[in-house]
Amino acid sequence: MKIAISGKGGVGKTTLAACLARYYAKKGYKVVAVDADPDSNLASALGLEPDKVLEITPLVEMSRLIEERTGAKSGEYGLYFKLNPKVDDIPQKFGIDVDGVKLLVAGTVKAGGSGCYCPENVFLKRLFRHLIVNSDEVVILDMEAGIEHLGRGTCESMDCLIIVVEPGLRSVQTAHTVKKMAKDLGIKSLFVVINKLKSHEEKVLLESNLKDLRLIGVLPYSEGVRDSDLKSLSPCNVDKRFSSAIEEIATKIEEEIEGSKGG
Ligand SMILES: Nc1ncnc2c1ncn2[C@@H]1O[C@H](COP(=O)(O)OP(=O)(O)OP(=O)(O)O)[C@@H](O)[C@H]1O
Ligand SMILES: [Mg+2]
Repeated sequence: MKIAISGKGGVGKTTLAACLARYYAKKGYKVVAVDADPDSNLASALGLEPDKVLEITPLVEMSRLIEERTGAKSGEYGLYFKLNPKVDDIPQKFGIDVDGVKLLVAGTVKAGGSGCYCPENVFLKRLFRHLIVNSDEVVILDMEAGIEHLGRGTCESMDCLIIVVEPGLRSVQTAHTVKKMAKDLGIKSLFVVINKLKSHEEKVLLESNLKDLRLIGVLPYSEGVRDSDLKSLSPCNVDKRFSSAIEEIATKIEEEIEGSKGG
């Protein structure tokens, strides 16, 4: 399963990505969690200690690696380089183990001119496309807020895109925009998760604005989750109600993806 997570800023993408990753890992899947947000913080949401988080070097900043695999130095736009660099050993060699999850921090590609065709970008795209897929593997991609990056080809190879919304219609507006773009990118399945829900009334209001977007689950607002961020702890096991909602969503995603692959 290859799952990408998108949505407006601050809605809870990283929280959902981390908790799904840890849940699937606990269930016995081999999980690769990819932090594709330049402002990366999936590591701490997964529960990596703050001092170790500081030691992480994002993949695109490993210039020797990029050079070795693509045959071109970072910043060399327009020159010849390999369009299919070897990436299959990357999770194993460069993944950081956090509680049974392999974390890859992608980093930012500073687009210069023809940003799309710099060696770093080719390397990342190839990586996203290649990652897995055996039936016991799960890839979870925590994406940057907003929509600009959707055109850059990060998520075409995903089985499903989950858009997170919160009680607030601006996040729903973003979801509709993402949906329009996802269609053009050929993403097969698209689902919405409502996060930070406080009341039934909020749910009714959000649902009526989701229109043709498919709701796959709801996560409650949780003081425990909020508090975990204050303390640099993982939000994944701090609140039973929240964790069981994660479990329900994870199960639904499995069913949906299996269903779409089976038929
Ligand atoms: N269900 C929840 N209940 C309470 N607080 C939550 C909940 N989900 C997320 N939060 C809090 O909201 C904040 C934003 O969450 P998170 O970082 O997961 O969002 P994001 O969409 O990844 O943000 P960004 O767009 O900056 O990447 C965090 O402080 C997090 O702890
Ligand atoms: Mg985030």
